[in-house]
Amino acid sequence: MKNEVKYSVSPTGEKFVIPSQEDFQPEFEKIEKLAKQAKAEGKEVVVVMGVGFVGAVMAAIVADTVDENGNPSKFVIGSQRPSVRSYWKIPVLNRGESPVKAEDPEVDVLIERCVNEKKTLVATFNSDCIKLADAVVVDVQCDYQKQELGNMKSGEADMAALEATMKTIGENMSPDCMVLIETTVAPGTTEFVAWPILKKAFSKRGIDSVPLLAHSFERVMPGREYVSSIRDFWRVCSGCNLEARNRVEKFLHEVLNTDEYPLTVMDRPIESETTKIVENSYRATILAYLHEWSLFAEKNGVDLIKVIDAIKMRPTHSNMIFPGPGIGGYCLPKDGGLGYWSYKHILGFEDGDDIFKITPTAIDINDTRGLHVATLTRDALRNMARYIAGAEVLICGASYRQDVGDTRYSGSEMVVRKLTELGAEMRIHDPYVDHWYELEIQDTYPSPGTSWARFFRNQDHLTESRVSKDLKTSLKGVEAVIFAVPHDEYKDLDPDDIVKWAGGPIAVIDAFGMLSDEKIKRYFELGCEVKALGRGHVQRIKQEVKEK
Ligand SMILES: NC(=O)c1ccc[n+]([C@@H]2O[C@H](COP(=O)([O-])OP(=O)(O)OC[C@H]3O[C@@H](n4cnc5c(N)ncnc54)[C@H](O)[C@@H]3O)[C@@H](O)[C@H]2O)c1
Repeated sequence: MKNEVKYSVSPTGEKFVIPSQEDFQPEFEKIEKLAKQAKAEGKEVVVVMGVGFVGAVMAAIVADTVDENGNPSKFVIGSQRPSVRSYWKIPVLNRGESPVKAEDPEVDVLIERCVNEKKTLVATFNSDCIKLADAVVVDVQCDYQKQELGNMKSGEADMAALEATMKTIGENMSPDCMVLIETTVAPGTTEFVAWPILKKAFSKRGIDSVPLLAHSFERVMPGREYVSSIRDFWRVCSGCNLEARNRVEKFLHEVLNTDEYPLTVMDRPIESETTKIVENSYRATILAYLHEWSLFAEKNGVDLIKVIDAIKMRPTHSNMIFPGPGIGGYCLPKDGGLGYWSYKHILGFEDGDDIFKITPTAIDINDTRGLHVATLTRDALRNMARYIAGAEVLICGASYRQDVGDTRYSGSEMVVRKLTELGAEMRIHDPYVDHWYELEIQDTYPSPGTSWARFFRNQDHLTESRVSKDLKTSLKGVEAVIFAVPHDEYKDLDPDDIVKWAGGPIAVIDAFGMLSDEKIKRYFELGCEVKALGRGHVQRIKQEVKEK
């Protein structure tokens, strides 16, 4: 059979030919030469496995490290599988361009500096580069696949990428190389899954020593502080044995700003792994519990936004936040699931359902909160004697939080899918998002068979969705607008303009406490219907306008 040429296409549409078997050896020779030269200059060689959202920026931060004399002290090789979905990241990174789109201007500058000026960062598809490493940092994904909508418990951890990576590392690493897992993993993974894989590989290779394995999770936040959220932020770490712990402490002191953001060192990896899971379950929980109060508020004339603001005056409660149309991002929807799953499948306990009550419920509430926004939209249109079926509806904001372009598991996706199921014709506006891949390539994104599309009917045509950046045009002729994400651009919108651009009175849905009372009042005066998540006082304003 003739070898078929395969391509990997970048988000901007650039096509890259995926390397074939004969390309691997010359690639290794090229990388080996660079690594040897770096070692001769006294640099430590670090391989970062997986140059995705986290790995690409972490690789650049390590590559930017200098010694006490200000000279670069690390040479970094980003290693990435040459898959159809991800290969493009390698040639892009090797040009000095960031494979991740970030709102933080430092990402592009940092990557360009390390690749083209300092020449301390390269990327490769040949994982044999692990042979050259003094340290390997693992930043591949470890997903949690939910099987049902609103039932986290029936999901399962997808460890395939992590296990494959550990196997490759074990087969190639030198005995004294330190391996650091940064991936968020199910508690127990480092010691009871990853370490055994490395040990088995060592014994197969006839190596007597114990592999040096450590864990230190990432707390990176997409947005304007992307680089800083990795480099200038508190870290937690641990090692499988004392030597691994000492090595990881030394490494993190060298590459991160631990003087200002001290490192916390835990006794065992299961403790640092659990720290990450509990930290994110805490956040998911304090967001989820507000959902019931949000429904209470809607039914009893209470504005939950004002309630939260009043509570936040107390310094002890200052981090309370309104949940919006759902809790997305890559981490909060899945991390509690990893904990629940590992209790049974890695740690071997059968009583998980007796002890885990709050975390699964919180995730289930967060995952389905967007459905209520669809209900509000339907009701608002009904109050205007219109139907949701066939209505043109504009959603403002596709990302999972304000002023970022990250759409992973956003509440807006749930809103769009439910309204589409009900027959609405959805339009999308977002100043930060170029492509909403969750819709545009829903058959393969996030991976084949895992799209939220499978939980709803009538989703096929969502592949034709396009994100607009022109609000005025997007509004033309709509019957409803949903303010789903409090991006800066949406904060100062004038109701008179919105109604003018739409061409008449519309249903206005505030899903994130974005409208002031004056604006709500004005919308009513203009003949619009307003509904707002967690804001029951809207009814009072409506009544006041009516009675005037
Ligand atoms: N993105 C965030 O905001 C964030 C925040 C905190 C923690 N984390 C955690 O960081 C980890 C990585 O997340 P991400 O957002 O960077 O994921 P990602 O999907 O963007 O990146 C993972 C990369 O690893 C690559 N990969 C998979 N298997 C590989 C293999 N065998 N060898 C080499 N490369 C391989 C993938 O192709 C991909 O490019 C996850 O555990 C995540 O939970 C992410």
